[in-house]
Amino acid sequence: MEWNSDIIKNLSWAGTISNRAGKQKVADQIVAKIKDGDIIGVGSGSTVYLTLFAIAEKIKAEKLNILAIPTSIEISMACSKLGIPLTSLYEHKPDWCFDGADEVDPAHNLIKGRGGALFKEKLLISSSPLNYIIVDDTKLVDKLGSKFPVPVEVFPSALLHVKEGLKAIGANNIVLRLAGGKDGPVITENGNLLLDVHFDNIDNEMELKIKSITGVIESGLFINYNIEVLVASNS
Ligand code: A5P
Repeated sequence: MEWNSDIIKNLSWAGTISNRAGKQKVADQIVAKIKDGDIIGVGSGSTVYLTLFAIAEKIKAEKLNILAIPTSIEISMACSKLGIPLTSLYEHKPDWCFDGADEVDPAHNLIKGRGGALFKEKLLISSSPLNYIIVDDTKLVDKLGSKFPVPVEVFPSALLHVKEGLKAIGANNIVLRLAGGKDGPVITENGNLLLDVHFDNIDNEMELKIKSITGVIESGLFINYNIEVLVASNS
C-alpha cells in the first residue's frame, strides 16, 4: 500500500546550492563509476544530493540493481524520492562511497561536517575500501581551517568539559552551532550538539587530540584517510 502524501516526493534542497555548475560536473564523474550490483555509501551535502539525481537516471535507464547506505536523514529521504533503494551497515559493507567536503588541502586531508552528518560520514568512509571525495574547486585550500571551522560533535552534558579540552589543545574560538528552523542549538541525528572550532594551526595529530577528549563523539577532521579526490572547476 502507498502513503497518500507528497511530502517526500516534493522535497527539495533547503536553500540555494552554491557553485552548482562545478558540483554537477563531479556528479557526472561519480555516475560513470556505477556498476550493476554495487553497494554504495552515500555521504551528505548538496554535491551528494545533486549526484543522486544523475544516479537515479542511470539506474532507470540501465535497469541497474544498486543499494545505497545513507549518512543522513535528508539523503535517506532524497533516495526515497528518487527511487534509489536503501540498505544499512547491518546488512552490507559498502563497495565504495562518495561524499563532499568543505575543505581539501594539498595532502588531501579534509574538513567536513557543515551539514552536521560528520559522524556517519566518517563511519562510512572508514568502513569502505574505496572512497571518492567530490568537490568543486572552491573547496581547495592551502591550509585546513582557512575557510571553515572544524565541526566537533559532542555528547550534550559534556559540552563545557569538551570546550575546556579543546582550548587546551589550541582552539581559539569555539561556537555552539545554533539551529535555523528550531530554537536553540542544532541537535545532530545522534542527539548530540555541535561545536564549530577555530584553530590557528591544525597539525596531523589534531584529529586524534580532539577525539581523545571525553565527550567528543567525532570531529569533521579527516587526516590521512583512504580517499581519492575528484575536483571540478566552476568555469
Ligand atoms: C555534510 O555534513 C558535509 O560533510 C558535506 O559533505 C560538506 O559540507 C559538503 O557540502 P556541500 O556539498 O553542500 O558543499
